[in-house]
Order: sequence, then structure tokens, then C-alpha cells
Amino acid sequence: MDISSISTAAERIKNGEIVAFPTETVYGLGANALDEKAVQKIYTAKGRPSRNPLIVHVLGATEAKQLTREWPQSAEQLTQRFWPGPLTIILKKNPVVPNITTGGNDTVALRSPAHPMARELLVQCGVPVAAPSANASGSISPVRAEHVRESLGDRTPFVLDGGQVPGGIESTVIDLTVTPPRILRPGLISAAEITQVIGSIDRFHEYVDTNQALPSPGLLERHYAPHTPLIISHTPIDDAKLALAARQSIGLVTCTKFGFESAECVTRGLGTTPAEAAHNLYEILHDLDQRKLDLIIVESPPPGEEWLAISDRLYRASIKAKN
Ligand code: TXA
Ligand code: MG
Repeated sequence: MDISSISTAAERIKNGEIVAFPTETVYGLGANALDEKAVQKIYTAKGRPSRNPLIVHVLGATEAKQLTREWPQSAEQLTQRFWPGPLTIILKKNPVVPNITTGGNDTVALRSPAHPMARELLVQCGVPVAAPSANASGSISPVRAEHVRESLGDRTPFVLDGGQVPGGIESTVIDLTVTPPRILRPGLISAAEITQVIGSIDRFHEYVDTNQALPSPGLLERHYAPHTPLIISHTPIDDAKLALAARQSIGLVTCTKFGFESAECVTRGLGTTPAEAAHNLYEILHDLDQRKLDLIIVESPPPGEEWLAISDRLYRASIKAKN
């Protein structure tokens, strides 16, 4: 671990600047969560609508409690079981947290990251760090330092480079201010795992047909979209053949890498488990998007709750970004 760049990053956070840093899920674009001017710089760099709230990163439950008005038993149980890790909890905010950090909401989203560089950064800067994913609003989250630079361009701040991150998709977000608690964004920690700890929850409703709209409470934006048109297909090989016959250049992503590759067809294997697929998903999409192909065809993931987070990200990627 490069300790000297971590101290540089920590100094910048303390001075009200923004920095990009790796977490175990995706790269974050961080600033002192309690400093309004610093947080404003995040929204500006991302081009993010100011009503879209940020996740505040803390070392653990002790630090999280200082930013909330209530600490329900569900928060205690979930943080004991899943922190540090890819679970974000939403609680009533303490007035010390500025409105800009929470997008004007009376609630605050909190997460304790597990990545050693993120943790060392939090130790050294000594403040809670507000950080959305370190990409321009509406595009795919970065899973490498290079993706941050490609997405933010000349708005790129100091980047702590931790290589490719292990997790690969954003944290599970659960709202603990409602009864029963409600999952707002599926992630690597599944509804089933959460239910085992706190009992009944309002699930992010399962859906089978990826062509159908998903409920997206708290997710105001179309997220995670590559520039290249992307379709999800139950018959990816047939669709690939049709596209190739129509002289399109394509990226073909199947669970197990499919054997034909040519100048017009770049193939990738997503992985056969949800964890593998999460690790590979954005890495593959960033790579294919750079190749300026006509179309990306992705095999529809298997049905079942453990694939929900992957299906959700793919569905969002299949919607063209605003710009
Ligand atoms: O894995 C992650 O969560 C990454 C890393 C950097 O920690 N961060 C991330 O942040 O994905 P972002 O800003 O891209 O997504 C935050 C999500 C948004 O969907 C936002 O609407 C929701 O959390 N959120 C944050 N605060 C909220 C609140 N008070 N109420 C409801 N939703 C909230
Ligand atoms: Mg994001």
C-alpha cells in the first residue's frame, strides 16, 4: 500500500479538496462530508443533480452514530454483521451533516468501506467522507483508476490508485427509517442475507423479465449506461449472428465465454457466479465501450434473487444515458 499517496489524499480532504479513492465496491469521489463547499465540488465534478444524495463513508458504527439522530436495533445488528463491507444504511440525520450532503433529505446514507486504502484514508483524514461513485453522472461506475480519469477528464482530482477493485458493483442500500426496512438498491449483500439478520424487509421486488421497468426508489437517475447501445438477450448467439449479418460490429457478453471472436465480434465471459459477474461486469463494459462498437449484446443473467444486483445494473446499462 502506497502510504505517502494516502497521506497526500488525506491532506487534500482535510483542506476541503476532493480526491478519488478505491473502495471494495467501486472507486469513490470523496470530500469532507461536513464541509459544504467541499461537498459542492463533488456535485460539480460529476455533473450530478444536487437532489441526488451522497453516501457518507465512516470507519465504523461509533463514527456513524455521531451523524444520526437514532440508532435502531436493525442498524446495530446489520453493522455488526456486515461492516466493514458493501452495505449502506439510511438513518435519520444529525444536524451536523449539511443538507447538501444528503441532497436536502432528513436522512443520511452511511457505509463503512472494507478496502484497506479507503480505511487508511479515513484514519488519516479523521473526518467522514462523502463519496458517490467517481464517474460523470449517468455513466458506468469506475472499477480502476484509469476509468476515473476517462470519465472525469480534466475534472479528475488526485486519484489514489488501488488497481482493479474486488467487488465491482455498488453497495446494497437499505432504508432503516421505514417499517419494514426497505432495500433501495440491490447489491452484493443480498436480501436473503439481510433477512437472516433483521427478519422481514421490503424487498426490491423480484422481476423476471429484464425488458420490464424496475422500481427504483431513491434512484432518480438513469445510471450505469455505456455510450454504446446495449441489449440484454435470452438468445445472445442468435442475436449476434443477426447483427453480424447486418454488418454491425458487436461486443458479445455471455456467462461462459462463447467461442467465436473476429474483428467484428469481441466476446467476453461475464462469469458463472454473481460475485464473479459483479467483479467483471463494469470492467467488461468499460473495455467494450472504448472499442466504439455498434452494439453490445449481453446474455440475460439466470433468474433468481442472487442475480438481482447484476440484472439491475444490466437493465440500467441497457437504457441510453441522457447525453
Ligand atoms: O458502493 C458504493 O455505494 C459506492 C462507493 C463509492 O461507496 N458509492 C455509490 O454512491 O455508489 P452513489 O452516489 O453512486 O450512489 C448512492 C446511492 C444513490 O442511489 C442515492 O440515491 C442513494 O444511494 N442515497 C444516498 N443517500 C440517500 C438517502 N438519504 N435516501 C435515499 N437514498 C439515498
Ligand atoms: Mg453512482
